[in-house]
Amino acid sequence: MGMERKRKRKVSLFDVVDDTCVSAKLAKTNGFAVHGNDTNPLVNRWNGRPYSKRYLEILEKRKTLPVWHQKEEFLQALKANQTLILVGETGSGKTTQIPQFVLEAVELEIPDKRRKFMVACTQPRRVAAMSVSRRVAEEMDVNIGEEVGYSIRFEDCSSSRTVLKYLTDGMLLREAMADPLLERYKVIILDEAHERTLATDVLFGLLKEVLKNRPDLKLVVMSATLEAEKFQGYFYGAPLMKVPGRLHPVEIFYTEEPERDYLEAAIRTIMQIHMCEPPGDILVFLTGEEEIEDACKKISKQVANAGDVYGPVKVVPLYSTLPPAMQQKIFDPAPPPVMVGGSPGRKIVVSTNVAETSLTIDGIVYVIDPGFSKQKVYNPRIRVESLLVSPISKASAHQRSGRAGRTQPGKCFRLYTEKSFNNDLQPQTYPEILRSNLANTVLTLKKLGIDDLVHFDFMDPPAPETLMRALEVLNYLGALDDDGNLTKLGEIMSEFPLDPQMAKMLVVSPEFNCSNEILSISAMLSSKSHYIVLSVLCLESNRMSKWKYNNGLRMLLLSLRMHACLPSIYEDASWCYENFINPRAMKAADNVREQLVRIMVRYNLKLCSTDFNSCDYYIDIRKAMLAGYFMQVAHLERTGHYLTVKDKQVVHLHPSNCLNHKPEWVIYNEFVLTSRNFIRTVTDVHGEWILDIAPRYFNLENFPQCEAKRVLEKLYKKREREGEESKN
Ligand code: CDP
Ligand code: MG
Repeated sequence: MGMERKRKRKVSLFDVVDDTCVSAKLAKTNGFAVHGNDTNPLVNRWNGRPYSKRYLEILEKRKTLPVWHQKEEFLQALKANQTLILVGETGSGKTTQIPQFVLEAVELEIPDKRRKFMVACTQPRRVAAMSVSRRVAEEMDVNIGEEVGYSIRFEDCSSSRTVLKYLTDGMLLREAMADPLLERYKVIILDEAHERTLATDVLFGLLKEVLKNRPDLKLVVMSATLEAEKFQGYFYGAPLMKVPGRLHPVEIFYTEEPERDYLEAAIRTIMQIHMCEPPGDILVFLTGEEEIEDACKKISKQVANAGDVYGPVKVVPLYSTLPPAMQQKIFDPAPPPVMVGGSPGRKIVVSTNVAETSLTIDGIVYVIDPGFSKQKVYNPRIRVESLLVSPISKASAHQRSGRAGRTQPGKCFRLYTEKSFNNDLQPQTYPEILRSNLANTVLTLKKLGIDDLVHFDFMDPPAPETLMRALEVLNYLGALDDDGNLTKLGEIMSEFPLDPQMAKMLVVSPEFNCSNEILSISAMLSSKSHYIVLSVLCLESNRMSKWKYNNGLRMLLLSLRMHACLPSIYEDASWCYENFINPRAMKAADNVREQLVRIMVRYNLKLCSTDFNSCDYYIDIRKAMLAGYFMQVAHLERTGHYLTVKDKQVVHLHPSNCLNHKPEWVIYNEFVLTSRNFIRTVTDVHGEWILDIAPRYFNLENFPQCEAKRVLEKLYKKREREGEESKN
């Protein structure tokens, strides 16, 4: 009783406690930071260690961020409401500061240190989750992975001590599968809500339900743009708090004529800025890893050619598959002048959309916006989802230009005409849910126990055709029965953080006696490690010229086998070099593999391999792949073209494929939409296998007329004949 009364008296729910004034004063006189625990303000309340000097330096900077001026107002609003919407200009401190404010309030509410509480902050992008959590760990003066952690697909950097976790929206959705009321959290912050990613949209609907069942849970929705009124309507009129921006003016320039090659135009613009404009860093928006790496090389070369008079330059790439240490380089300062009195240095950041709102880089004065980003598109009619380089929206263009005015007045160079901006760009980017294949989402929703998809409270409901397609795919895969209920197989499939096709391939692989190998393949595909070989091959074109395609294939398969049997082979650097293997990518794939193995073991799925010397070794692997990807089959027509089966799209083998011939039937992992349709990562299969493995899907009764159908008919007839002969 006494304890309880004491606790109550101490602080009530989300009381506002601003101890920062004290800390600033004390810190100044003591030379290091305060902001500590109840008994000793010089000690970090999270880990009992004295605060570092760095802590104080950052604290001073933090306090100048716009959200700090509204800290009290925010905490009061949070106290008074279950749901709160916060809108603020990018860079105002939402992502890094608000979760810390929340944490402070929650911690005060639960002074019993033995009781576990957590705050979650979602991010649509993995780079942002990693980068921001590192920054916040530094701000709180703790080690990353301890009190502050992050969780992204295949990488959990958190521990039992973690109280603040940054995680991708997809990961929070996965957590909800195991913990439907998300009971470990006291407050959930959905950040970057304006991005309207698929997972965030699903979380909106889900959390609305969870909040009803958990009156003690609070939700903060944070967004960079003013579409927030829409969120307000959706969340039953939750209060909206605005953090005024503090942007310097940005002058906008358009091109006179449309640019034919935006990459070339971007590099030309960079050089013009570098040679003619006053000091200040440059941010260039490009669309993906390959393009960015290519651009970085070209920029470095041209800068070197221009000579020293223009000052030193540091070119830094930023995209999601970049290793964390490299990602961190975007925050390094520009290089110093080469000599005293020389021209000041410049940093040039070449980034994907992640720098549009998710990450703020101080010191950017010039922004180059070619007007494109890679966006997901989905056509339910032909069942093709692809990442396509597409024009951005006006809202995006506005955000991009804003990045130039963070620290001083800036300039934004749009590599398109003003007319094009006014007439061609849509006002807003469409929510991802309207342009995605929803098979994975539907599987997740089913696992979450949401059966009535049509009446699920989506902020923007997806097209009924898209939902139907998703149900159909899951039904063919055996994850849903004919009534749309989750099957046992579907339940296991949903446990894997993979696409349903890949999950199916993995779950059935023991039946084909090759789960070890399929695990390796899944891991390599998931960690984008088909670059394992190819990127190295590209870099070493001299050595590569000695290689034939089928050599490449054999090598890939060899590495696969090594991977399945001797996971640590890649630690031998010279072996990697000899075999064109990128050890870093291999290590990442191995980590993914280990996690998949754990799920396999949990569900008693056997880990097995066919004898490597058996002629069935590769056959078994290919059959297992077909068992997952039978809806992604293409047939070689007599015209010499491949046609996707059932949907009849003309496709070409992607130039990166390792085949030295054109097999009659192939399955593919990826459909790449460009000026031509490519299928990437293909494997050859046999017509007979198709009949055995997916008879329901290849039932010819409801099959469109095409060459593939006639071939399959023949195969069925041959079967019948053989069956009769064996009977006689
Ligand atoms: O979320 P929002 O865009 O409102 O801002 P934020 O991501 O919280 O960033 C606030 C400030 O933190 C930025 O302006 C940067 O100055 C600083 N920051 C940093 O210096 N290094 C990081 N890794 C992240 C943020
Ligand atoms: Mg943010």
